Amino acid sequence: MEVVETIEQIRKIISKAKSAGKKIGFVPTMGALHQGHLSLIEAAKKQSDFVVVSIFVNPTQFGPGEDIAKYPRPFDADTEACKNSGVDVVFAPTVEQMYPGKNITWVNVEKLSEPLCGKSRPGHFRGVATVCAKLFNIVRPDFAFFGQKDAQQVIVIQRMVADLNMPLEIVVCPTIREKDGLAMSSRNKYLNTAQRKDAVLLYAALQEAELFIAAGEHKSSLLKSQMEKILKISKQIKIEYISIVDARTLEAIDEIKGKVLIALAVKLGAARLIDNIVLDVE
Ligand code: PAF
Repeated sequence: MEVVETIEQIRKIISKAKSAGKKIGFVPTMGALHQGHLSLIEAAKKQSDFVVVSIFVNPTQFGPGEDIAKYPRPFDADTEACKNSGVDVVFAPTVEQMYPGKNITWVNVEKLSEPLCGKSRPGHFRGVATVCAKLFNIVRPDFAFFGQKDAQQVIVIQRMVADLNMPLEIVVCPTIREKDGLAMSSRNKYLNTAQRKDAVLLYAALQEAELFIAAGEHKSSLLKSQMEKILKISKQIKIEYISIVDARTLEAIDEIKGKVLIALAVKLGAARLIDNIVLDVE
C-alpha cells in the first residue's frame, strides 16, 4: 500500500489504475479511523477494483472554537488499519497542498446546509462540500462511500453531486454501533467513563421514537418530548437539537409520514455527538 502526500503523486497513481480499467472506490476521512470507517473501506473493496482512502483534517469545515487543534490524529495506526484492510493507496495531503493561498471558491449547497447541524455550525457544510468537491476532482472516483451516521452530510454531498453533474456514485453505508448502541465516531474518544455511559441515551432516545411510531404515534412534537425525556436522564447531556424532518428536503414535519429522518445532536463533556435514524412510515 502506498501513502502519498501530493496531488501530483495521487493523480499519477489514479491515472495508471484507470488506464488499467480499474473502477476507483474512494473513502474520504479525517483519520482517527474506527470500525465505521473500516466498514466503508470494506464496502469500497467489494464494489470497486482500486480503493483510495484520504486522511485530511479539513480546516474549512471547523468553526471558530471547534475542536480542530485537538482533533485526534493517530496517523501511523490509521495507515496500518488501511493496509490491513486492503486499501491500495492512502492520500494524506497537507493543508498547503489542499488550500495553497487563501481559498475564495466555495461550494455551497443552499437550504440543505442550513438546518440541523448547520444552525450551530454555520459554514460547516460549505467546508465539507468544498473539500469533497476538491477531493473528487483529484481522485476522480467511480464510487465514494459515506456513513449514514452523518445523515445531513450525505444529503448535502448527494445534492452537490447531482447539481454539479459530478460523474460518480455516492454509496451510503449503515451506521456502525458499539454493542450498547452508541454510534461509532472519532469524537467518542473525548468521553470520560461517566459520559461514555450516558452516551447510550442518544440511541435509546431514537429507539424510543421508533417504538412510539410503531405503536401509531405520529405527532412530531410528542415524539420529540419523549426523546427529550430520555436524554434528560443524564445531567451531563446538553441537547443541541432533536429534529424530525423530511429525509430528502430536511424540512421539519409535524406529522410522521413517508421517509422521515429523526436526528439529534448533543454536547456531552468535550464531545459533540450526533445520531439519527431514517424510517419509512406509511
Ligand atoms: O465525514 C468526514 O470525516 C468529513 O466530513 C469528510 C467527508 C472526510 C470531509 O472532510
